[in-house]
Amino acid sequence: MRAILISTPGGPDALTLTTVPELPIGPRDIRIAVAAAGVNRADVAQRLGNYPAPAGAPEWPGLEVSGTVTEIGPEVTRFRTGDRVCALLAGGGYATEAVVHEDLVLPVPDSVDLIDAAALPETLATVWSNVFMSGAPIAGAGLRAGETLLVHGGSSGIGTTAIQLAHLAGARIAVTAGTSEKLEACRSLGADILINYREQDFVAELKAATEDQGADVILDMVGGAYAARNIAALATDGRIMVIANQSGEKTAFNPFFLMQKRGHYSGTTLRSRPHAEKAAIIAGLHEDAWGWVQSGRYRPIIDSRFSFEDAAAAHRRMESSEHIGKILLVP
Ligand SMILES: NC(=O)c1ccc[n+]([C@@H]2O[C@H](COP(=O)([O-])OP(=O)(O)OC[C@H]3O[C@@H](n4cnc5c(N)ncnc54)[C@H](OP(=O)(O)O)[C@@H]3O)[C@@H](O)[C@H]2O)c1
Repeated sequence: MRAILISTPGGPDALTLTTVPELPIGPRDIRIAVAAAGVNRADVAQRLGNYPAPAGAPEWPGLEVSGTVTEIGPEVTRFRTGDRVCALLAGGGYATEAVVHEDLVLPVPDSVDLIDAAALPETLATVWSNVFMSGAPIAGAGLRAGETLLVHGGSSGIGTTAIQLAHLAGARIAVTAGTSEKLEACRSLGADILINYREQDFVAELKAATEDQGADVILDMVGGAYAARNIAALATDGRIMVIANQSGEKTAFNPFFLMQKRGHYSGTTLRSRPHAEKAAIIAGLHEDAWGWVQSGRYRPIIDSRFSFEDAAAAHRRMESSEHIGKILLVP
């Protein structure tokens, strides 16, 4: 099989397509002939040497794939060879084959292009677990119909997912993004309040658009630099979910303002969660959100597709931040 390895941590040209031995398959694993792999920011961090693969995962990057089942372990019950699937991985997606426990696999409906389906698992699992699942990470804190969600980075892979899910769930959606083109894309997916964070103060804009109430839930991928402003933009009983620290900053805020709002400040990383938690997230997605995927009411937003030979260009595109939606690698 072929895989895209990181020759030496560094720039995009560190991504090297090479031949590796076939992966072993466990009793509840399935082997997937990869149709496409999703590109995620975490892959860029891994390439730079800042986010090594967890123990047990292949050394090459890739947190999600789509494809066709070619082999199943003896105890697999949910899938058969020939099935169209997509899967959440702890690593190893940038390859012509992936091996994954069946708990982390979802069926790809006929209505969804098999290559595009590689864009589904990582952002759906991240957004679902942080914004919607009632038990995690804050008990009973899932976004409810009629509430306001603020999504930073609305045009990102995560953002385009969060907008669509929140729209389907009947929430009001505010987004931040860095260009008017990106904001227009967010509007077309269902965003109601559009804030160009390079030109406008998102706290003031959000308050003006919500009769001073603010956001009930904030999905934050900016991190430290936004902490105090997120609390200022939060509604009473609001929940802030941090999923990245792109600003790279440590932060300080006055806890009194969080207390005053009876607010929650929480964070998660999907990749390092225990298997049982990831399995519960995938099961919850399948149970409660997959109908939207099947019916086409939720669709993967694809920015671009690159061949495996062009993996460096795919990473350059992600680092340029010019993309809207997901970038895919196709063997
Ligand atoms: N914790 C987890 O489990 C988890 C899981 C998946 C992803 N993530 C993280 O979530 C983030 C998004 O992932 P992705 O795959 O969707 O990446 P992506 O498509 O590359 O998105 C990054 C986005 O961040 C936006 N951004 C940067 N600075 C901003 C600011 N100050 N205000 C508002 N937006 C800003 C960029 O928008 P502009 O270009 O307009 O600035 C861009 O749309 C990444 O940092 C990723 O590592 C975390």
